Amino acid sequence: MVQTVAGLRDARASAGMVPWWRDAVIYQIYPRSFADSDGNGVGDLRGVIERLDYLNDGAGGSLGVDAVWLSPFYPSPGADHGYDVSGYTGVDPLLGTLEDFDHLLGAAHARGIRVLIDLVINHTSVEHPWFRASRSSRADPKRDWYVWAPPGPGGSPPNNWLSAFERVGSAWTLDEATGECYLHTFTPGQADLNWRNPEVRAAIGDVMRFWLERGVDGFRVDVAHRLVKDEALRDNPPVLAHERRHVSHPWARQRNADHPDVHEVLRELRRTTDEYDAVLLGEVPIHDPARLARYYGDGDELHMAFNFALWDVPWRARAWRHVVDALLAHLPARAWPCTALSNHDIPRTVTRFGSDGRGRQRARVAAMLLLTLPGTPCLYAGEEIGMAGGGVSEQRRRDIDDRDESRTPMQWDPSGRGFSSGRSWLPVAPDAAVANVAVQRHDPASVLSLYRRLIRRRRGSPALRRGTYEPLHGPAEVFAYRRAARGEQFVVALNFSSRHQRLRHHALPRGTVVEVCTDPARDGEVLERHLVELGPDEGVVLRLPPAGAGRERGGRARAHR
Ligand code: GLC
Repeated sequence: MVQTVAGLRDARASAGMVPWWRDAVIYQIYPRSFADSDGNGVGDLRGVIERLDYLNDGAGGSLGVDAVWLSPFYPSPGADHGYDVSGYTGVDPLLGTLEDFDHLLGAAHARGIRVLIDLVINHTSVEHPWFRASRSSRADPKRDWYVWAPPGPGGSPPNNWLSAFERVGSAWTLDEATGECYLHTFTPGQADLNWRNPEVRAAIGDVMRFWLERGVDGFRVDVAHRLVKDEALRDNPPVLAHERRHVSHPWARQRNADHPDVHEVLRELRRTTDEYDAVLLGEVPIHDPARLARYYGDGDELHMAFNFALWDVPWRARAWRHVVDALLAHLPARAWPCTALSNHDIPRTVTRFGSDGRGRQRARVAAMLLLTLPGTPCLYAGEEIGMAGGGVSEQRRRDIDDRDESRTPMQWDPSGRGFSSGRSWLPVAPDAAVANVAVQRHDPASVLSLYRRLIRRRRGSPALRRGTYEPLHGPAEVFAYRRAARGEQFVVALNFSSRHQRLRHHALPRGTVVEVCTDPARDGEVLERHLVELGPDEGVVLRLPPAGAGRERGGRARAHR
């Protein structure tokens, strides 16, 4: 039987244990695409409730995740599919009601599943009552809740800031009625809030408390690095060609993002969440690990930030190792990383690493990375069945930034009926015949079974959850590392190549056992001393015999707790 969330809180308080989110596996749900309970083709909150047992029913057969992060379910005109919020304290009627949300929260907690919700506070929809008031007149008390500026000469935008969506162009739109431009870092339907205004901060504080009082366990903070902009609205400096390779967006290091004043805002958000012992997980798309580390503040800003650099890494062992090591080298000891392979904004793993047809095998190796690297894993719905996504024709595209292919419906069965009895808002991807829950559920060789085994292994292992991390030397195409805690030791060895590889290492003593392999036929194999053979695109989690039986030499273990 799983413990309920209330039970866990009490246990933690009495035992002085580490915070729950450090030990958790988080599962991201994009509600529109997860499960549709009423046949209107759009996933909804009741659909999520119906699938909670799949996520964690407390028995061995379910996935076994500990928390869900729900992408936005608030009322929204849909300019950015929910990331344009027109009411912060309600539920989009397409997705359900507030009662449904409370029901979902209760049902999740009863299974020991925590719930994180998306805090989309860089901007609101232009349909939000705050913005309607703001745009009604220059004298309106809410005018300064948003970022307004007079147009430049000849009606040009006030400065050269660009929207994060290339297709949008300028980040400014002229509002004819009042003759000024409003800032929108995303679509013109998403007006940026003015975080320099204390009333805005107070209003968002109330929004957070509204959900915290209902019992949510934390927030994923949307574009946390963008909340505050240059007060004087100065032009961004010209983008230098060499910089483009190092930042995800050419403007990411400029005056409308990563502003030093954002940290004060994050500290304020943190104070609010601390009142409720809730967690802040930030979206901070900054690749430079030193800059990313600043978002943890002095232990008083974000609890965790996604390691964005991982989403641009090519499928090469050295590249992955470099990104992982760079982040760990820059994070202060108490800061906790968060690893994700994909989300609703970027191509799915099978697709991203599949240009040569090996994406499915690599997705298994990637699963092993996700569940064994230091930090909290966050798994995007569908990754656990190796969904490729895609197959969205020109006519059925919905998104301004071409992200539909990562948002196709969750593949519960080969037909798509498991998602919805109606016509789904995005088409079911072509790989539903192979990548679906129904066929993989009972197949011990499926990627779903691999995820279940890895999650279970992680859950039972202090070393994999919180242990030290030490990269090991080996062949260039093998990424290998040791995780150790409380006398328990694992070595993870991942073959990034499509050739056989052999890792010979003194860290692998007699008695080392293959605990989990991407090929389940090898589970339980006992290794020849100091040596593990790896098939093409194969990964293994090796359990070392208890300390003393195989003393290791050399290598510096980095404490990560
Ligand atoms: C984040 C979301 C993305 C959205 C954007 C604007 O990056 O993940 O989906 O479009 O913020 O809210």
